[in-house]
Amino acid sequence: MAEKWTPDSWRSKPIMQVPDYPDTEALADVEKRLSTYPPLVFAGEARALKRQLADVAAGRGFLLQGGDCAESFAEHHPDHIRDFFRVFLQMAVVLTYAASQPVVKVGRIAGQFAKPRSAPTEKQGDVELPSYRGDIVNDIAFTPEGRAPDPARLSMAYRQSAATLNLLRAFAQGGFANLDQVHRWMLGFVKDSPQAHRYQELADRISESLAFMRACGVSPDSVPQLRSTDFFTSHEALLLGYEQALTRVDSTSGDWYATSGHMLWIGDRTRQPDHAHVEFFRGIKNPIGLKCGPSLSPDGLLQLIDILNPDNEPGRLTLIARFGADKVFDHLPQLIRAVQREGKVVVWSCDPMHGNTITAGGYKTRPFDRILKEVEAFFAVHRAEGTHAGGIHVEMTGRNVTECTGGAHALTADQLGDRYHTHCDPRLNADQALELAFLLAENLKKERLGRDHEKIAANG
Ligand code: PEP
Ligand code: CO
Repeated sequence: MAEKWTPDSWRSKPIMQVPDYPDTEALADVEKRLSTYPPLVFAGEARALKRQLADVAAGRGFLLQGGDCAESFAEHHPDHIRDFFRVFLQMAVVLTYAASQPVVKVGRIAGQFAKPRSAPTEKQGDVELPSYRGDIVNDIAFTPEGRAPDPARLSMAYRQSAATLNLLRAFAQGGFANLDQVHRWMLGFVKDSPQAHRYQELADRISESLAFMRACGVSPDSVPQLRSTDFFTSHEALLLGYEQALTRVDSTSGDWYATSGHMLWIGDRTRQPDHAHVEFFRGIKNPIGLKCGPSLSPDGLLQLIDILNPDNEPGRLTLIARFGADKVFDHLPQLIRAVQREGKVVVWSCDPMHGNTITAGGYKTRPFDRILKEVEAFFAVHRAEGTHAGGIHVEMTGRNVTECTGGAHALTADQLGDRYHTHCDPRLNADQALELAFLLAENLKKERLGRDHEKIAANG
């Protein structure tokens, strides 16, 4: 019999990755105030996302999840949100077309602030200060004042999330995502790349299809799905005090929902089964993600699945595999087999970013070819196991940054300094994100054709 869960039952468990707030009373005050603020998302929306993810788990759809590694206060600008959303839509269109299946759109945005760190402190020369843990905790500036965790930042992150979400909702529903705009989503700097030509061709084909359908009496004016889209938000729920303050009872179901975002995930460093994060997650009804890194054993995974999804509810749990390009074949097959053997329903998603981080030219970077290699390996394993490669989880931006090496423009380590803007991990720029989408599209097409062949064979 599981112990009773309450929104604060995590507080009696061991916990990792907690900032050391100098003023805990001030922290408690801010958390109390946050608990009176309006929810950012509505439980009914989280349930809608769960239903869409249940379809993905059943092999009917693909999850596209992406955005900043860490959102920042300084870069909160409408143009950045617009450029991100535009590239995200481009990727979604490429994937939808290739898979002939719905693409579930989930941003790492409007709440993705807190960062787990490999060390609690950072040393520069002889000076040692607390590590930067994201703008919701402290400042990236390497000064004692900057690095001191400040509770006021929790409210700032909440307000920024609300404003970002507001604009995203407007974009998704207000006409920006209308398929008639498919040519306009082209970003200026992507125009002369090989990806631009491929995208242009695809946009032409979509426009032709729309013209044909319009002639048949079906158009974005008459069909809401063609003029708007569902767009959901997600983040790593690392700061449990913040999450608890925004966890509310849904009046229509009587269940507890985290209302800081539609989908929350547990990071690879905080997934100990008897610790605070897993305790918090087991009680909220949102769809959730679990990062699966090389240290997770098949038995460890099954134990977590039993705690986090005891009723085996489809759409509840997305497993986000992040092993590193060379380790996928060593780890993923055994996890998939354990899940299949026990009849657990999950979405399998691939994070090709976090297992492929290196340092080059003094910068943290990720070689684009390693990212593609991890994606290819992920699909190959699923093909071999006969399971559905259900999603992708990436760190990306709509800005023309130079953070990951490689890609069509063959970005070198020497060029990383040109436009290296991330506050944490290196992101794909718009061009690289689109190139990745085309690679995913080829793999999804292969999966679809494989299924069609099986059907033909089965029907004799
Ligand atoms: C992240 O997604 O930013 C992250 C820290 O990932 P992981 O927990 O997989 O290392
Ligand atoms: Co990251």
